[in-house]
Amino acid sequence: MYTEKVLDHFSNPRNMGEIKDANGVGMVGNAKCGDIMQMFIKVNDDGIIEDVGFKTFGCGAAIATSSMATEMIKGKTVEEALKLSNAAVVEALQGLPPQKIHCSVLAEEAVKAAVEDYEKRKAEKAEA
Ligand code: FES
Repeated sequence: MYTEKVLDHFSNPRNMGEIKDANGVGMVGNAKCGDIMQMFIKVNDDGIIEDVGFKTFGCGAAIATSSMATEMIKGKTVEEALKLSNAAVVEALQGLPPQKIHCSVLAEEAVKAAVEDYEKRKAEKAEA
């Protein structure tokens, strides 16, 4: 049912946990299954995501997709991170069962929410 990549990221998640000095935090959830995903990013002055972490209270596919998403945005610019699609995460995991596609949507939304929070904080700082 699950590819080796999914099982690998599920049993050995990358970048798991909160990062203390995050300057962007996003939290999203899926009302149907009740799963929740939190994404933490640390963006440097050049707009590069230096560090990233996640906390997922959810199914195995949600853990695997969040883990993969963190790997895909680490070292990238915030603009690049915003372009990360759930389809790209699924592809990197070599596929997900159809009923688990929504888990990858959560990963895309969590990344976007973290970047939006970062942009908001930046704008507030500029105003102050
Ligand atoms: Fe809902 Fe996986 S079952 S995120």
